[in-house]
Amino acid sequence: MKPRVLLTRRIPSSAFATLEAACDVDRNDGELAPQDLLSRVRDKDGLICVFTDAITPEVMDAASGLKVVSTIAVGYNNIDVAAARSRGIVVTNTPDVLTESTADMTWALIMDITRRVSEGDRLIRRGGWKRWSLEFMIGTELRGRQLGIIGYGRIGRAVAMRAKAFGMDVVYANGPATTASGAISVDRLLATSDVVSIHCPLTPETRHLINQASLARMKRSAYLVNTSRGPVVDESALVWALKNNIISGAALDVYENEPAVHPDLLTLENVVLTPHVGSATTDTRTAMADLAVRNAIAVLTGQPPLTPVG
Ligand code: GLV
Repeated sequence: MKPRVLLTRRIPSSAFATLEAACDVDRNDGELAPQDLLSRVRDKDGLICVFTDAITPEVMDAASGLKVVSTIAVGYNNIDVAAARSRGIVVTNTPDVLTESTADMTWALIMDITRRVSEGDRLIRRGGWKRWSLEFMIGTELRGRQLGIIGYGRIGRAVAMRAKAFGMDVVYANGPATTASGAISVDRLLATSDVVSIHCPLTPETRHLINQASLARMKRSAYLVNTSRGPVVDESALVWALKNNIISGAALDVYENEPAVHPDLLTLENVVLTPHVGSATTDTRTAMADLAVRNAIAVLTGQPPLTPVG
């Protein structure tokens, strides 16, 4: 008998075909309410999910035969990994395959907020462009300025690589602890950087790492960019900082309560907002789904997972 797998979202057809060849698949299309996740996971050996599915101890206990939770994402803060480990359930994620597309998206946001791309687009669409002048829509030049990267892992490094092409100096910090060689403290990074870009995972230690006090440390001319997880930034504190010119602007791909966005962010011009699309290219989403499928099949056929968490 083939192993039974619950797949909580549609995936590209090539990855789905690989999964279906090896497993009996119960595929959910669209949203999956927590109570439906609980009832549909019950008889499954494997679960392939996305970062919006909360994989709690309750979900794990609902499926007594569950052997693997394979998330189609690099971040796994939605999964209680300790609870999985204590139940002998393997957890896997999809690192590496999304590094370049997420670094590209980070740069799209850095360019947008510093050169006011979306702001100019909004202005034209509402008929607000009346004349050209030397002082019109002035942005910030990047060459010679400092990019501060919080979380110097795969994506942080890929963002740093691209900074060379823009002539930026790079400093980095590794979350609250300053351990990696070359890393500086988050406080020093915040106080000296012209653009601060966040690439650390969401953990209890990094939740609200960027709060009112840390925003107050930043230069008034600086920009904040977040493509990691929304709750790393205290969104209310960010609104305060943007409204009071504590920093110059912010570009966000992630939010504290997705898909909700703090209503005041929607009213501010010095903010760029994208809907959590850091890895959203066809190549990357296909590679992520492929890797998640191969991880699940490996565990369900007694092989070691390709990219286990932890
Ligand atoms: C998306 O947010 C991911 O973690 O891959």
